Amino acid sequence: MTPGKTPETLRSARWFAPDDLRSFGHRSRIMQMGYAPEDWAGRPIIAILNTWSDINPCHAHFKQRVEDVKRGVLQAGGFPIELPAISLAEQYVKPTTMLYRNLLAMDVEELIRSHPVDGVVLMGGCDKTTPALLMGATSAGLPAIYLPAGAMLRGNWKGKVLGSGSDAWKYWDERRAGTITDADWLDMQGGIARSHGTCMTMGTASTMTAIAEAIGMTLPGASSIPAPDSNHMRMSAECGRRIVEMVWEDLTPAQIQTRGAFLNAIAVAMAMGCSTNAIIHVIAQARRAGQDIGLDDFEAASRVVPVLANVRPSGDTYLMEDFFYAGGLPGLLSRIRGHLDLGALTVTGRTLGETIEGAAIYNDDVIRPLDNPVYAEGALAVLRGNLAPDGCVIKPSACDPRFLRHEGPALVFDDYPAMKAAIDDEALDVSPDHVLVLRNAGPQGGPGMPEWGMLPIPKKLVKQGVRDMVRLSDARMSGTSYGACILHVSPESHVGGPLALVRTGDRIRLDVAARRIDLVVPEAELARRRAAWTPPAPHYERGYGWMFTRHIRQAHEGCDFDFLETQFGAPVGEPSI
Ligand code: FES
Ligand code: MG
Repeated sequence: MTPGKTPETLRSARWFAPDDLRSFGHRSRIMQMGYAPEDWAGRPIIAILNTWSDINPCHAHFKQRVEDVKRGVLQAGGFPIELPAISLAEQYVKPTTMLYRNLLAMDVEELIRSHPVDGVVLMGGCDKTTPALLMGATSAGLPAIYLPAGAMLRGNWKGKVLGSGSDAWKYWDERRAGTITDADWLDMQGGIARSHGTCMTMGTASTMTAIAEAIGMTLPGASSIPAPDSNHMRMSAECGRRIVEMVWEDLTPAQIQTRGAFLNAIAVAMAMGCSTNAIIHVIAQARRAGQDIGLDDFEAASRVVPVLANVRPSGDTYLMEDFFYAGGLPGLLSRIRGHLDLGALTVTGRTLGETIEGAAIYNDDVIRPLDNPVYAEGALAVLRGNLAPDGCVIKPSACDPRFLRHEGPALVFDDYPAMKAAIDDEALDVSPDHVLVLRNAGPQGGPGMPEWGMLPIPKKLVKQGVRDMVRLSDARMSGTSYGACILHVSPESHVGGPLALVRTGDRIRLDVAARRIDLVVPEAELARRRAAWTPPAPHYERGYGWMFTRHIRQAHEGCDFDFLETQFGAPVGEPSI
């Protein structure tokens, strides 16, 4: 560990301490806001990056929680400053929040770089916010602690427990099939999301906040506390107290985010039955930390770590609130300790092993024992083949087992509007054995790789009782989605990946046990199609989208911008002020 900071060596002292005209300006302008030297002099200045907005229901409580963080910072002798960062509300930001994950990561990096701050509390939780905040803070390199928003309470409708996303998809299919009424559907609208906080299924939010904890970037147990629980307020204040100590200790993300820490995160992702989105985000974050993590690390973990969290959609019953009461992430970590690097350091200054000492599990049906898992092999499988030379993923724990080995004819949609126009056509030539293919939905094609990967089952088949089919795309899918969906095909079709060459009627062969996905078409024919292929028109001619399409990496590389990856240029380091 590094020797630590003194009041003189604080980064913020470079703004406030010198006896020169510029620092006079800094001091006089902070006094303009009513502060006295007692407030700031010699104290760590803590940036609280708040991703609250009036249209972000997952972070709605951050307006109050930030006051708890400030209380903690003040108690510990720091000086809190709240800095608003872009708020990426998953449900509202179009075309997809994934288009803006890297923009938020840049926002975070530059906010930290440019302001007189010594340490950072990162307030986030909704899907892309967690990786974005951590990616930016990792590049910035100052001591940082992550404050997860917490999941919302269980949904409730007519005595039934409802889960975010998953139950919306499920009952939407029932409505399309005519088995529930319009009135029921409207009623459900008010019951499925009944408190502040993130989706309470094992979606991307719950997965990513658990991953943040497993990496060591949150306080122990922080990611499992439901948003409205008073424990959440106390945890927020504790984040404030702890970050001040971290500044004095000079405990930086670089000391925490080792390769072992990321492998811990991957093991946890598997045991949680994680969202497929985790793969992209963990790879991107690890690369920011200078760690070489790739699809093969997920594949290796998937073969040895069973799914233990019986939380929907991989599990059949419970939600994140139940997971918290059952012992939360510390409980789960203690159960998979054999798969973890227990020596990895956390924001507490102690090792992961030390932080989970004494952790207990209070309900073995919610957090299953190793000998009675929800799913024996891991949550994710990485497939390769002539359709996905750089890989693609499937979530076998959330799909009908009969599709784990399947061969069927392709039904190809060139883009999302084409799919949407056709899927409810009851004359569509489709059987339950077809493989639905959606292309031009990847990082560049979507653009931003939207969550279109759980293609709807054609209406004609829904009416016949079909509820799962093999679906293949270069899109992502929501962590709350389910089904035999093969996602993240890399390289994507928009840049000429093999998905661009598939034609309706071609045979596609899937073999999850062999980790293969192949197009059963002779190579000579594929070469003819490749020669005739022309790239689609670019989506943007200006602005952020233009920059995005020029710099975005493919899915298997984490979809970061090339110029933000660690090896691109010198480290952020100290600003030249
Ligand atoms: Fe924010 Fe699901 S919409 S976590
Ligand atoms: Mg989501």
